[in-house]
Amino acid sequence: MSNLMNKPDAAIADARPTRDADTGNSPARGRPEAPIRDGAAFLRGFLARPLEVASVAPSSRFLEQQVVRAADLSRAGCVVELGPGTGGTTRALLRGMPPGARLLAIELNPGFCARLHRQIADPRLIVQAGSADSLIAHLAQSHLPAPDVVVSGIPFSTIPPQTAARIADAIASCLAPGGRFLAFQFRPRVADYLRPHLGAPETLREWRNLPPMQVFRWVKPGR
Ligand SMILES: C[S@@+](CC[C@H](N)C(=O)[O-])C[C@H]1O[C@@H](n2cnc3c(N)ncnc32)[C@H](O)[C@@H]1O
Repeated sequence: MSNLMNKPDAAIADARPTRDADTGNSPARGRPEAPIRDGAAFLRGFLARPLEVASVAPSSRFLEQQVVRAADLSRAGCVVELGPGTGGTTRALLRGMPPGARLLAIELNPGFCARLHRQIADPRLIVQAGSADSLIAHLAQSHLPAPDVVVSGIPFSTIPPQTAARIADAIASCLAPGGRFLAFQFRPRVADYLRPHLGAPETLREWRNLPPMQVFRWVKPGR
């Protein structure tokens, strides 16, 4: 657990559950947003930070559904999303999660974080600004237990290799025994980082996405 003692970024002091700023409604679970607005914000994010965002469009609903199915959320108590972006995958996870579960979403891009805070009103969601390589500190900050599921859209092939290795280490360390790690990626580089920790992944494919994606799935042994 090499980064157990890392402090999360200062911005995560803002780790409150999100509120419904638009309507004041009490909790809207993963309220769908206009895909065009999400797509435009995502594209702007890509143009500003291409290596971190690494995709011109958010995940398709087909990919979201495939990830949710593979994550087996029905009995999950704690779920983590790394790189929620404009929140399409976040809403899909919330729709699949039990009522009492919590979702910790960790996002590096401050613009995407602000958007998630503004647009997703669900008391199960905690959005933290910062990097996934401080995952264990982020969990501690929110007093969350070992996650049953970690889902990642972070582009392991374009972020710095040292960061990718630290993220892989943190995921493998913090997952609960029997916990699932799902990574949806264009390239298979993520498997190189996780293989020393969790072995070879199961690989699924989703062609109905721009670009087509592979979904890598690991289950942590021990239960
Ligand atoms: C390909 S996008 C996926 C967005 C969204 N999950 C989806 O599927 O539409 C990758 C996201 O990972 C975020 N990201 C990249 N590096 C990160 C890191 N070290 N920690 C947290 N988020 C990161 C980017 O800002 C971006 O929002």
